Amino acid sequence: MELLEAIRVRKSVRAYKPDPVSEDTLMDLLNAAVRAPSSVNSQPWEFFLVMGDALDALRKAYVEQVRAGVPPHPEIAIPQQKGTSPGLAGVYRDRQIALAKQMFQLLGIGKGEKDKMQAWTETMYRFYDAPAAIILVIDEALISGWPLVDTGLMAGTLAYAALEYGLGTCIIRAIVDYPEQLRAVVGIPNSKQTIVGLSIGYPDWEAPVNQLDSEREALKNLVTLVDQPKS
Ligand SMILES: Cc1cc2nc3c(=O)[nH]c(=O)nc-3n(C[C@H](O)[C@H](O)[C@H](O)COP(=O)(O)O)c2cc1C
Repeated sequence: MELLEAIRVRKSVRAYKPDPVSEDTLMDLLNAAVRAPSSVNSQPWEFFLVMGDALDALRKAYVEQVRAGVPPHPEIAIPQQKGTSPGLAGVYRDRQIALAKQMFQLLGIGKGEKDKMQAWTETMYRFYDAPAAIILVIDEALISGWPLVDTGLMAGTLAYAALEYGLGTCIIRAIVDYPEQLRAVVGIPNSKQTIVGLSIGYPDWEAPVNQLDSEREALKNLVTLVDQPKS
């Protein structure tokens, strides 16, 4: 796929066909993605490829946490813009709400429909029933600044490279929301920090949620052109 076309068409895939993705394909994908840039070429990322019974066990453990009402507590802090409670505020919150509205409309979830909402939340914590997940971790010694940027670049690179294999992805923070369960099921040692994950599989393009086309802020609100020194 042509590069700009890939940037245009990539979207988060939140429903997958049950078809498995072969280990060879996933390894080819990772092999391509490790060409991603990183600060001083430190390549801080490490990957846990989770599939089969392990992924099912993780889904089960996560849904148990959600049903028990355990608040998410990822090792990378949730943005804390609202003062005491985690979450976004201002324009960032507005964008989050706009996304949720679009999504719930496609899913047929109305205001106050708690059971449907709970079911959808559980779907997210089953990582959209994807046949595979990639968990990105970095060494605990690197847990600040640039290595996080590098890991974000890796997540993006994986999402774009996946298109070339006919695969869809969703970068999912929720996949690292319950670190104790994640570490226990996947066997992630304490010397590694969990950062983010991706669900990955062959997209079910018939699914309503995959019709979602998320909005973008107008460029004029984001760009400051500077061609003269300010002082
Ligand atoms: C760091 C990061 C974390 C994300 N976490 C989640 C998540 O937990 N659940 C989810 O459904 N989508 C998650 N997303 C996907 C975003 O919601 C999505 O990228 C955004 O709405 C833009 O839509 P698009 O990817 O379809 O262009 C995450 C994306 C990023 C980059």
